[in-house]
Amino acid sequence: MAEGRRPHGPVPVPDGLGLREAAALVTDGVTALRPARHAPAGDGRPWVLVAAAAGGAGSLAVQILRDAGARVIAAARGEPKLRLVRELGAEVAVDYSEEGWVDRVREATGGNGVELALDGAGAALGEQVFETVADGGRFVTYGTSGGRFTEIDPEVAEQRQIEVINELADGTPDPELVRTLLERVLGLGAAGRIRPAIGATFPLADAAAAHASLAERATVGKSLLLV
Ligand SMILES: NC(=O)c1ccc[n+]([C@@H]2O[C@H](COP(=O)([O-])OP(=O)(O)OC[C@H]3O[C@@H](n4cnc5c(N)ncnc54)[C@H](OP(=O)(O)O)[C@@H]3O)[C@@H](O)[C@H]2O)c1
Repeated sequence: MAEGRRPHGPVPVPDGLGLREAAALVTDGVTALRPARHAPAGDGRPWVLVAAAAGGAGSLAVQILRDAGARVIAAARGEPKLRLVRELGAEVAVDYSEEGWVDRVREATGGNGVELALDGAGAALGEQVFETVADGGRFVTYGTSGGRFTEIDPEVAEQRQIEVINELADGTPDPELVRTLLERVLGLGAAGRIRPAIGATFPLADAAAAHASLAERATVGKSLLLV
């Protein structure tokens, strides 16, 4: 935590939201809502791409952006994950482990690319995600699942007038911002506008199995440890 920063105090779980659902929203919801705020404002329905879309944070980002009126393209690997993101409201679901997936995203948008891409994958996959962004758009990276940050050549970003935002670069976010985002995302959950996709639960004693499943990319949605 940055020097002088204290965690925000308790945030109540709103009526209408189950405790498991609240637990599934507590960190992933903030992580998803923070980059989703960079979607273009206005009355239009911008095309946005969510990568690692069937993960804990990605599956919420798909819903938050759809709820805000965006047309969501979700990228994930394998049919069970693509099925989930379609159920959650993605208009287009693309398997990003297949050759030519970036072209398919561009085609879906009519050729231009997306106005906003959220990169929850990192590394080489994140660098492909950048290629889906339209000139003048935004690329927000917050994931390192691939083992490192996504690296974007600043000159290329400048030439294409793409704003690159790394949500993790400045360390722990301001606790007041976290509180605001957390209250908002819990409210969205309580109102039924988003729902955490809890794909698996494990007893706390099986935490190692839960971690192995994450590392193998076998999880769909959020995994919870239960006591
Ligand atoms: N959750 C948080 O609060 C939080 C906070 C800060 C940062 N982050 C970062 O945000 C990213 C997403 O977090 P999350 O909680 O949604 O994670 P998650 O539930 O584990 O989902 C991560 C997704 O990344 C994809 N992925 C791509 N390359 C991978 C690889 N080499 N190994 C494992 N998975 C890979 C997987 O989907 P496919 O198989 O479909 O590719 C998986 O669904 C992570 O990189 C995490 O470090 C998360």
